[in-house]
Amino acid sequence: MRLTVKNLSAFYGKKQILHDISFPDVKGGMIVGLLGPNASGKSTLMKCLSGENKSKGDVIFDGDCLHVVGRKKWSEKVATMPQTAPAPTALTPTELMWSTARALALPYSNKELSRKIEGIFDALGLSDFQLDALHTLSGGKRQLIGLALAFIREPELLLLDEPTSALDLHWRMIVLDLVKRKVQEEGSVSIAALHDLDLAARYCDLLVLLEQGRVIASGTPQEVLVRDNLARVYQVETEIDQSKHGYTRVDIIGAL
Ligand SMILES: Nc1ncnc2c1ncn2[C@@H]1O[C@H](COP(=O)(O)OP(=O)(O)OP(=O)(O)O)[C@@H](O)[C@H]1O
Ligand SMILES: [Mg+2]
Repeated sequence: MRLTVKNLSAFYGKKQILHDISFPDVKGGMIVGLLGPNASGKSTLMKCLSGENKSKGDVIFDGDCLHVVGRKKWSEKVATMPQTAPAPTALTPTELMWSTARALALPYSNKELSRKIEGIFDALGLSDFQLDALHTLSGGKRQLIGLALAFIREPELLLLDEPTSALDLHWRMIVLDLVKRKVQEEGSVSIAALHDLDLAARYCDLLVLLEQGRVIASGTPQEVLVRDNLARVYQVETEIDQSKHGYTRVDIIGAL
Protein backbone atom coordinates (compact mmCIF):
# COMPACT_ATOMS: atom_id res chain seq x y z
CA MET A 1 0.00 0.00 0.00
CA ARG A 2 1.35 3.42 -0.93
CA LEU A 3 -0.25 6.86 -1.06
CA THR A 4 1.12 9.55 -3.35
CA VAL A 5 -0.15 13.13 -3.21
CA LYS A 6 1.43 15.57 -5.68
CA ASN A 7 0.34 19.07 -6.67
CA LEU A 8 -3.17 18.74 -5.27
CA SER A 9 -5.23 21.90 -5.66
CA ALA A 10 -8.84 22.51 -4.68
CA PHE A 11 -11.38 25.29 -4.91
CA TYR A 12 -14.65 26.30 -3.28
CA GLY A 13 -16.34 28.05 -6.18
CA LYS A 14 -13.67 30.31 -7.66
CA LYS A 15 -11.72 30.60 -4.43
CA GLN A 16 -8.62 28.43 -4.32
CA ILE A 17 -8.30 26.76 -0.92
CA LEU A 18 -5.49 24.24 -1.48
CA HIS A 19 -2.41 25.18 -3.48
CA ASP A 20 -0.19 22.44 -4.97
CA ILE A 21 -0.22 20.19 -1.92
CA SER A 22 2.58 17.61 -2.10
CA PHE A 23 4.20 15.49 0.56
CA PRO A 24 6.51 12.47 0.66
CA ASP A 25 4.97 9.13 -0.34
CA VAL A 26 3.23 7.34 2.50
CA LYS A 27 3.83 3.61 2.90
CA GLY A 28 1.50 1.04 4.43
CA GLY A 29 1.72 0.99 8.22
CA MET A 30 2.20 4.74 8.53
CA ILE A 31 0.13 7.45 10.22
CA VAL A 32 0.37 10.91 8.71
CA GLY A 33 -0.42 13.89 10.92
CA LEU A 34 -2.01 16.85 9.20
CA LEU A 35 -1.26 19.99 11.18
CA GLY A 36 -2.14 23.63 10.79
CA PRO A 37 -4.22 26.37 12.36
CA ASN A 38 -7.96 26.81 11.97
CA ALA A 39 -8.96 27.36 8.33
CA SER A 40 -5.57 26.21 6.98
CA GLY A 41 -7.27 23.54 4.86
CA LYS A 42 -6.96 20.28 6.83
CA SER A 43 -10.61 19.26 6.50
CA THR A 44 -10.70 20.36 2.88
CA LEU A 45 -7.67 18.18 2.15
CA MET A 46 -9.35 15.25 3.92
CA LYS A 47 -12.45 15.72 1.76
CA CYS A 48 -10.30 15.81 -1.38
CA LEU A 49 -8.50 12.61 -0.36
CA SER A 50 -11.81 10.86 0.35
CA GLY A 51 -13.13 11.95 -3.04
CA GLU A 52 -15.96 13.93 -1.46
CA ASN A 53 -14.55 17.22 -2.80
CA LYS A 54 -13.18 17.68 -6.30
CA SER A 55 -9.49 18.38 -6.68
CA LYS A 56 -6.77 18.59 -9.31
CA GLY A 57 -3.37 16.91 -9.23
CA ASP A 58 -2.11 13.42 -8.52
CA VAL A 59 -3.67 11.33 -5.77
CA ILE A 60 -2.62 7.70 -6.14
CA PHE A 61 -3.36 4.93 -3.66
CA ASP A 62 -2.43 1.30 -4.09
CA GLY A 63 -1.86 1.92 -7.82
CA ASP A 64 -5.25 3.59 -8.37
CA CYS A 65 -5.42 7.23 -9.38
CA LEU A 66 -8.38 9.04 -7.76
CA HIS A 67 -9.11 11.10 -10.85
CA VAL A 68 -9.07 8.05 -13.13
CA VAL A 69 -10.96 5.41 -11.14
CA GLY A 70 -13.72 7.80 -10.03
CA ARG A 71 -15.30 8.38 -6.66
CA LYS A 72 -17.32 5.17 -6.39
CA LYS A 73 -14.41 2.77 -6.82
CA TRP A 74 -12.12 4.99 -4.77
CA SER A 75 -14.54 5.04 -1.84
CA GLU A 76 -14.42 1.24 -1.54
CA LYS A 77 -10.96 1.53 0.04
CA VAL A 78 -11.43 4.73 2.00
CA ALA A 79 -13.29 5.68 5.16
CA THR A 80 -13.51 9.06 6.82
CA MET A 81 -14.26 10.04 10.35
CA PRO A 82 -15.52 13.60 9.84
CA GLN A 83 -14.67 16.48 12.17
CA THR A 84 -18.25 16.58 13.43
CA ALA A 85 -19.54 13.68 15.54
CA PRO A 86 -22.78 11.91 14.52
CA ALA A 87 -25.83 14.07 15.29
CA PRO A 88 -27.51 13.54 18.69
CA THR A 89 -30.61 11.79 17.34
CA ALA A 90 -32.88 9.14 18.87
CA LEU A 91 -30.99 6.37 17.03
CA THR A 92 -28.83 4.01 19.07
CA PRO A 93 -25.17 3.31 18.19
CA THR A 94 -26.15 -0.24 17.22
CA GLU A 95 -28.87 0.98 14.83
CA LEU A 96 -26.49 3.51 13.31
CA MET A 97 -23.80 0.89 12.72
CA TRP A 98 -26.21 -1.56 11.13
CA SER A 99 -27.89 1.02 8.92
CA THR A 100 -24.52 2.40 7.79
CA ALA A 101 -23.13 -1.05 7.02
CA ARG A 102 -26.24 -2.04 5.07
CA ALA A 103 -26.45 1.31 3.21
CA LEU A 104 -22.85 0.75 2.10
CA ALA A 105 -23.71 -2.83 1.12
CA LEU A 106 -20.77 -4.19 3.13
CA PRO A 107 -20.41 -7.84 2.21
CA TYR A 108 -20.97 -9.40 5.66
CA SER A 109 -23.61 -11.84 6.84
CA ASN A 110 -25.72 -10.71 9.79
CA LYS A 111 -23.65 -12.89 12.07
CA GLU A 112 -20.33 -11.52 10.80
CA LEU A 113 -21.56 -7.94 11.03
CA SER A 114 -22.86 -8.48 14.52
CA ARG A 115 -19.47 -9.87 15.58
CA LYS A 116 -17.57 -7.01 13.95
CA ILE A 117 -19.75 -4.36 15.56
CA GLU A 118 -19.36 -6.06 18.92
CA GLY A 119 -15.55 -6.10 18.52
CA ILE A 120 -15.41 -2.41 17.56
CA PHE A 121 -17.72 -1.34 20.40
CA ASP A 122 -15.63 -3.38 22.79
CA ALA A 123 -12.34 -1.81 21.63
CA LEU A 124 -13.79 1.70 21.89
CA GLY A 125 -15.50 1.22 25.25
CA LEU A 126 -18.96 1.65 23.73
CA SER A 127 -20.52 -1.70 24.65
CA ASP A 128 -22.38 -0.31 27.66
CA PHE A 129 -23.91 2.47 25.55
CA GLN A 130 -24.84 0.57 22.41
CA LEU A 131 -28.59 0.62 23.10
CA ASP A 132 -28.78 4.21 24.35
CA ALA A 133 -30.13 6.97 22.10
CA LEU A 134 -27.33 9.11 20.69
CA HIS A 135 -28.83 12.29 22.15
CA THR A 136 -28.32 10.86 25.64
CA LEU A 137 -24.58 10.27 25.11
CA SER A 138 -21.75 12.67 25.88
CA GLY A 139 -19.86 14.47 23.12
CA GLY A 140 -16.81 12.24 23.59
CA LYS A 141 -18.85 9.05 23.30
CA ARG A 142 -20.48 10.35 20.11
CA GLN A 143 -17.04 11.12 18.72
CA LEU A 144 -16.06 7.50 19.40
CA ILE A 145 -19.16 6.36 17.52
CA GLY A 146 -17.94 8.44 14.56
CA LEU A 147 -14.74 6.42 14.72
CA ALA A 148 -16.66 3.14 15.00
CA LEU A 149 -18.55 4.06 11.80
CA ALA A 150 -15.23 4.50 9.99
CA PHE A 151 -13.78 1.24 11.39
CA ILE A 152 -16.74 -0.87 10.26
CA ARG A 153 -15.70 -0.23 6.65
CA GLU A 154 -12.27 -1.79 7.30
CA PRO A 155 -10.61 0.81 5.08
CA GLU A 156 -7.16 0.67 3.58
CA LEU A 157 -7.01 4.46 3.79
CA LEU A 158 -8.43 5.78 7.06
CA LEU A 159 -9.00 9.54 7.19
CA LEU A 160 -9.49 10.94 10.69
CA ASP A 161 -10.46 14.59 11.06
CA GLU A 162 -9.51 15.60 14.60
CA PRO A 163 -10.34 12.15 15.99
CA THR A 164 -9.43 12.92 19.60
CA SER A 165 -10.62 16.53 19.98
CA ALA A 166 -13.48 15.61 22.36
CA LEU A 167 -11.76 12.74 24.17
CA ASP A 168 -10.27 12.58 27.64
CA LEU A 169 -6.62 11.64 28.17
CA HIS A 170 -7.29 7.92 28.52
CA TRP A 171 -9.36 7.62 25.34
CA ARG A 172 -6.96 9.75 23.30
CA MET A 173 -4.29 7.15 24.00
CA ILE A 174 -6.59 4.17 23.46
CA VAL A 175 -7.83 5.52 20.11
CA LEU A 176 -4.43 6.40 18.71
CA ASP A 177 -2.88 3.15 20.00
CA LEU A 178 -5.69 1.31 18.21
CA VAL A 179 -5.19 3.21 14.95
CA LYS A 180 -1.45 2.59 15.15
CA ARG A 181 -1.96 -1.13 15.73
CA LYS A 182 -4.47 -1.37 12.90
CA VAL A 183 -2.32 0.34 10.28
CA GLN A 184 0.74 -1.67 11.30
CA GLU A 185 -1.06 -5.02 11.32
CA GLU A 186 -3.01 -4.41 8.11
CA GLY A 187 -0.38 -2.38 6.23
CA SER A 188 -3.02 0.29 5.73
CA VAL A 189 -2.52 4.08 5.87
CA SER A 190 -4.11 6.64 8.15
CA ILE A 191 -4.14 10.40 7.87
CA ALA A 192 -5.19 12.30 10.97
CA ALA A 193 -5.79 16.03 11.31
CA LEU A 194 -4.59 16.97 14.78
CA HIS A 195 -4.25 20.10 16.89
CA ASP A 196 -2.41 18.33 19.71
CA LEU A 197 1.25 18.53 18.73
CA ASP A 198 2.45 16.16 21.47
CA LEU A 199 0.09 13.45 20.21
CA ALA A 200 1.17 14.15 16.63
CA ALA A 201 4.83 13.74 17.59
CA ARG A 202 4.14 10.55 19.49
CA TYR A 203 1.96 8.70 16.99
CA CYS A 204 2.73 10.03 13.50
CA ASP A 205 5.47 8.82 11.18
CA LEU A 206 5.13 11.83 8.88
CA LEU A 207 3.82 15.32 9.61
CA VAL A 208 2.45 17.76 7.04
CA LEU A 209 2.14 21.34 8.27
CA LEU A 210 -0.33 23.55 6.41
CA GLU A 211 -0.72 27.30 6.35
CA GLN A 212 -3.41 28.97 4.25
CA GLY A 213 -3.75 25.93 2.02
CA ARG A 214 -0.04 25.46 1.40
CA VAL A 215 2.46 22.95 2.78
CA ILE A 216 4.96 24.83 4.92
CA ALA A 217 6.88 21.76 6.05
CA SER A 218 6.67 17.99 5.81
CA GLY A 219 8.82 15.25 7.27
CA THR A 220 9.44 13.47 10.53
CA PRO A 221 8.06 15.03 13.75
CA GLN A 222 11.62 16.12 14.63
CA GLU A 223 11.96 17.89 11.27
CA VAL A 224 8.57 19.61 11.32
CA LEU A 225 8.07 20.48 14.98
CA VAL A 226 10.67 23.20 15.27
CA ARG A 227 10.34 26.62 16.89
CA ASP A 228 10.42 28.65 13.68
CA ASN A 229 7.71 26.59 11.96
CA LEU A 230 5.41 26.78 14.98
CA ALA A 231 6.02 30.51 15.45
CA ARG A 232 5.25 31.17 11.80
CA VAL A 233 2.19 28.98 11.47
CA TYR A 234 0.55 29.09 14.91
CA GLN A 235 2.01 32.39 16.18
CA VAL A 236 3.17 30.81 19.41
CA GLU A 237 6.53 30.78 21.15
CA THR A 238 7.61 27.25 21.98
CA GLU A 239 10.42 25.17 23.29
CA ILE A 240 10.72 21.61 22.07
CA ASP A 241 12.31 18.95 24.21
CA GLN A 242 12.21 15.25 24.99
CA SER A 243 10.37 13.85 27.98
CA LYS A 244 12.28 11.41 30.17
CA HIS A 245 10.21 8.69 28.50
CA GLY A 246 11.58 9.68 25.11
CA TYR A 247 8.59 11.56 23.68
CA THR A 248 8.93 14.87 21.88
CA ARG A 249 7.22 17.56 23.94
CA VAL A 250 6.12 20.96 22.69
CA ASP A 251 6.21 23.42 25.57
CA ILE A 252 4.03 26.37 24.59
CA ILE A 253 5.41 29.46 26.29
CA GLY A 254 2.79 31.86 24.97
CA ALA A 255 1.06 33.46 22.01
CA LEU A 256 3.23 35.78 19.91
N1 LIG B 1 -18.15 24.54 2.08
C1 LIG B 1 -17.31 25.58 2.02
N2 LIG B 1 -17.55 26.62 1.17
C2 LIG B 1 -16.68 27.64 1.08
N3 LIG B 1 -15.53 27.74 1.77
C3 LIG B 1 -15.25 26.75 2.62
C4 LIG B 1 -16.12 25.61 2.80
N4 LIG B 1 -15.57 24.80 3.72
C5 LIG B 1 -14.42 25.37 4.11
N5 LIG B 1 -14.23 26.54 3.46
C6 LIG B 1 -13.06 27.45 3.61
O1 LIG B 1 -11.88 26.72 3.31
C7 LIG B 1 -10.81 27.12 4.17
C8 LIG B 1 -10.23 25.87 4.82
O2 LIG B 1 -11.21 25.33 5.72
P1 LIG B 1 -11.03 23.92 6.43
O3 LIG B 1 -12.31 23.56 7.05
O4 LIG B 1 -10.43 22.99 5.45
O5 LIG B 1 -9.93 24.29 7.53
P2 LIG B 1 -9.35 23.40 8.72
O6 LIG B 1 -7.86 23.48 8.61
O7 LIG B 1 -9.98 22.07 8.73
O8 LIG B 1 -9.79 24.26 10.01
P3 LIG B 1 -10.22 23.75 11.51
O9 LIG B 1 -8.93 23.53 12.26
O10 LIG B 1 -10.95 24.96 12.04
O11 LIG B 1 -11.07 22.55 11.39
C9 LIG B 1 -11.38 28.14 5.13
O12 LIG B 1 -11.06 29.42 4.68
C10 LIG B 1 -12.88 27.89 5.06
O13 LIG B 1 -13.60 29.07 5.31
MG1 LIG C 1 -11.17 21.06 10.07
